Amino acid sequence: MWAPTIGPNGPRYAAIVEALANDIDAGRLAAGDQLPTHRELADKLGVSVGTVTRAYAAAERRGLIRGEIGRGTFVTGGATEAFGAVDFDKATPGIVDLSVTRPLEHLDPDLTSTLRELARQPELSEYLRYQPNAGMWRHRVAGANWVSRFGVEASTDRVLVCAGTQHALNVVASTILGPGDTLFVEELTYPGFRVLANLLQLKLTPLPMDADGLLPDAFESACRQRRGKALFTVPTIHNPATMTIPEDRRREIASIANRYGVAIIEDAIHHLLASNPPAPISVYAPEKSYFIGALSKVVTGGLRVAYLVTPPGQGELLTQSVWATNWMTAPICGEIARMWIEDGTADRTVHEKRIEANRRVRMARNILAGYDLRTDDHGHHAWLELPETWDSAARFAAETRRRGVAVTPADVFAVGGNVPSAVRLSLSAPSNFESLSSGLITVAQTLRSEPGLGPAIV
Ligand SMILES: Cc1ncc(COP(=O)(O)O)c(C=O)c1O
Repeated sequence: MWAPTIGPNGPRYAAIVEALANDIDAGRLAAGDQLPTHRELADKLGVSVGTVTRAYAAAERRGLIRGEIGRGTFVTGGATEAFGAVDFDKATPGIVDLSVTRPLEHLDPDLTSTLRELARQPELSEYLRYQPNAGMWRHRVAGANWVSRFGVEASTDRVLVCAGTQHALNVVASTILGPGDTLFVEELTYPGFRVLANLLQLKLTPLPMDADGLLPDAFESACRQRRGKALFTVPTIHNPATMTIPEDRRREIASIANRYGVAIIEDAIHHLLASNPPAPISVYAPEKSYFIGALSKVVTGGLRVAYLVTPPGQGELLTQSVWATNWMTAPICGEIARMWIEDGTADRTVHEKRIEANRRVRMARNILAGYDLRTDDHGHHAWLELPETWDSAARFAAETRRRGVAVTPADVFAVGGNVPSAVRLSLSAPSNFESLSSGLITVAQTLRSEPGLGPAIV
């Protein structure tokens, strides 16, 4: 029988829902698993039956579980299955994917010409050999060069080549945090980080945000109350909520981190898309910061290259974790990234993707005019707050899916019990304008319809 461990803080019902979501993310609960009855779980946890009933109802609204009359309560397979995220292997026929932030892949650099040029190098076989864990020196030099575009000036010994941001996050979190440690995150956060935190058995404490992002006061009071060791943040074109934290707030966050000795893990994955973004938080707290500058969302995701900038003097320590997690990032990927950074391909691609992203943002603003749509002018995704008629993002996402469009409900990003009625729309996944436009029109039609009534009959 499922017997979760629930934390001591916050409302009991929310802690049960969070435990359910965590156990599904971590694979401890699988699709089809039967959950205890309300009475059994109440007895087990020492809470009232009403609390369990409330928790199961909230979990059902999030699409995590479903109750079947006469049979019991079952795990649906988690948010992904419930909302029908799109299979990475193949486009699902008849489905417009607005769920995954594929970064305008049709504008990726031309790999054929790059490989031809690479093939002309005299020492090609060195990319098939083991190389230093932190990456070949010239690849780290290219990384230092790349992160300078974000405003981060770092000596090469502080720059490690990682296999994408997700790997860099793993390297940092597994080095500076251990099982049971508390980590602060924005109350809506990147789901890949939640999965990682589960794997490493970290406790996430959500921090509130407003229209400018993470609230420094909330960060400070959390630092005062809990012994959180680190803050994970996506401060520029936040995923999913799209805001960019302004400069004064960044300085405040850095100063609080310095004062309380809390590390900052800064994921700058969308930074280069933004127009004149403020300097990264890491610039104001270099001794406490782990900065990640990837190619993924601005050049290409499949190359799997991101540069991790460590605090001064910590390059060697973090290199141990690269060794522990993947020995080294494939040198051939490091080399392609170096070529693109040094010959201008990367900058050109960023430029082209920004222009295309802006066209798509304008299209979304147009089709969804009148709704509460939040976007950066050059972002790959938008955050849509649903009107009152739709009180459950999960139900809305299930309905758009039924009509042929995959979107991602807030549940997938929410840490803690506060789940807004909102969905994230990826504007960058469809390969052409027509497909994006038809997907957005379906979203608009769904917004105008009433839950449970199905498509309007005309
Ligand atoms: C905020 C954020 N961080 C990291 C990633 C993953 O990045 P990478 O492909 O570099 O591992 C994503 C992907 O969607 C993301 O949205």
